[in-house]
Amino acid sequence: MNLDSNKRHIYLIGFSGSGKSSLGPKLAKKLNFGYIDLDDMIESSTMQSISQIFVSRGEGYFRKLESDLIAAVSRRARPHVVALGGGAFEKATNRRILLATGTVIYLSCSIKELTRRMLHHEDRPMLKEKKERTERSLQTRITDLLTKRKANYMKADITVSTTNRTKSAVLKEVLRQFKKYADR
Ligand code: S3P
Repeated sequence: MNLDSNKRHIYLIGFSGSGKSSLGPKLAKKLNFGYIDLDDMIESSTMQSISQIFVSRGEGYFRKLESDLIAAVSRRARPHVVALGGGAFEKATNRRILLATGTVIYLSCSIKELTRRMLHHEDRPMLKEKKERTERSLQTRITDLLTKRKANYMKADITVSTTNRTKSAVLKEVLRQFKKYADR
């Protein structure tokens, strides 16, 4: 592999439920990279859950922490696989750092499957609804947010679809595409 040494990390981006945190540790192990889940890092540094941070300090505070930790993690010398929260690729400053210091991999997934995967996960503040959640209302919320974010997700270096793919098939495809990208 002859990747630019500045682009030494791998960043996993994509919507909640796209499989970043499940793929991340396995990918890191295969490549002998370190592994970081940025949301876990935020929770341990604040000793609060992401939901608590949103309630007590608001989204703006969370986004500031997220950006600060992205900047800090990007400076690590050892290559890491970093799983990022679904909104981390929205800020231009974050995107600039991430694309400059690593290979950004977008895990895409159909709205239908994201809805199915997230239906029983009530802990995502960005997917919270005023009324009781139904499959239909969640699908609408995901469609709205994904429509807004899609153009930025598409700025990733690599896109891998996880729709109808097993976890091991996703890992295999990510490794294949990463090697191809690194050797180009
Ligand atoms: C967010 C996604 C979450 C977490 C936070 C905000 C978002 O991460 O960072 O709740 O803006 O989509 P996951 O993508 O791991 O769910």
